[in-house]
Amino acid sequence: MSFALGYGLLGGALAITWLIDPTLIPGDVPRAHGHIMLLGFILMMIYGIALHVLPRFSGFPLYSERMADWQLYLANIGLPVMVAGWLTWTHAIVLVGGALSYGAMVLFGLNMVMTVRARGPKA
Ligand code: HEM
Ligand code: HEM
Repeated sequence: MSFALGYGLLGGALAITWLIDPTLIPGDVPRAHGHIMLLGFILMMIYGIALHVLPRFSGFPLYSERMADWQLYLANIGLPVMVAGWLTWTHAIVLVGGALSYGAMVLFGLNMVMTVRARGPKA
């Protein structure tokens, strides 16, 4: 969760710097800011809360801790790579980072579905 707050503060600082003077930071700064906020602040917060709360709601342990670890590695590598791509106007780098971020979403979805569905609702 502190990761998410860190991204939120970073995204805010990036936008404010850009508002003060758009030439201070090179690249597509609004795009980088938007995705740091959405994928970094909002989605990481959702990841953290869901991984913590869902097993407790469903009454079953998380399907896979290892999947959750890899999800967080992918998300935290993917986003900085995407942002690096935007700040250097390099489409291929955005693509690689985007694919890693997407991989994290897929792992998250699988883990959530398997946690609640595989064993059915608890009686
Ligand atoms: C800390 C407070 C924030 C400031 C100072 C700020 C500032 C900005 C600025 C200056 C832009 C560019 C506008 C333009 O293109 O002229 C922008 C775009 C954007 N912001 Fe923020 N913002 C803040 C918080 C947030 C938050 C919390 C979110 C989402 C959770 C967010 C999401 C976006 C998105 C999606 C865009 C559009 C990016 C794009 O065009 O690709 N912002 N913001
Ligand atoms: C795997 C995750 C994602 C990837 C790879 C991705 C990639 C992209 C790309 C390539 C663009 C266009 C950049 C350009 O025109 O130069 C874009 C724009 C945008 N994305 Fe994402 N994105 C992702 C997730 C998200 C999420 C989760 C949100 C919102 C919750 C979001 C909101 C936006 C917005 C608001 C824009 C700007 C649209 C506009 O041009 O007005 N993205 N994204």
